[in-house]
Amino acid sequence: MKEKIDVFQYSETIVRALGNGALLGTMGDKYNAMVIGWGHLGVVWGRPTFVAYVREHRYTKAQLDKTHEFTVSVPLGEADKAITRICGLKSGRDIDKVQEAGLTLVEPETNHTPGVAQYPLTIECRVLYSQKQDLSALPEDIRAGSYPQDVDGGAPLANRDAHTAYIGEIVDAYIIRD
Ligand SMILES: Cc1cc2nc3c(=O)[nH]c(=O)nc-3n(C[C@H](O)[C@H](O)[C@H](O)COP(=O)(O)O)c2cc1C
Repeated sequence: MKEKIDVFQYSETIVRALGNGALLGTMGDKYNAMVIGWGHLGVVWGRPTFVAYVREHRYTKAQLDKTHEFTVSVPLGEADKAITRICGLKSGRDIDKVQEAGLTLVEPETNHTPGVAQYPLTIECRVLYSQKQDLSALPEDIRAGSYPQDVDGGAPLANRDAHTAYIGEIVDAYIIRD
């Protein structure tokens, strides 16, 4: 069962959960989930939005650029350490994360990207706009700390790749209940 929510009433829960890692789910050749620590809820063009930041070489980016939609899955309570490890350090290019992390997928309501029962607060989005960051325009300390140019873009954490910001219109939001 899904309990529909006013997503902005959960703003604090969502933003704080990012500190421990939420999941950015995408479809394409298969469902894939990547841990995200960055993102924001807000309003753009008069529409409720979630913005996610995805580096160039993530499998997730290839999926997003095919389907132009994503679903954010947020834990209510602690993040699951095994889910964080598998979905935050391994790539969907190499493994099936649903199987390896034991994710229980739940049919979406409005877009085509499932939610995850273990991370029940679900935000379904359709991408309105995406833009690659211009690293040369960033403050030097951020460029040095977040974009080390000696680390290959295939590395799972910080590396030389810029992020692309994906502004997703929130088309549905709910909590998955048993
Ligand atoms: C706590 C945490 C937060 C992360 N946040 C982001 C993020 O906001 N954007 C990003 O591109 N990668 C982020 N990552 C790294 C990806 O989750 C990781 O590279 C993942 O393996 C990519 O999976 P994929 O290749 O299947 O897309 C984060 C990793 C962790 C552990």
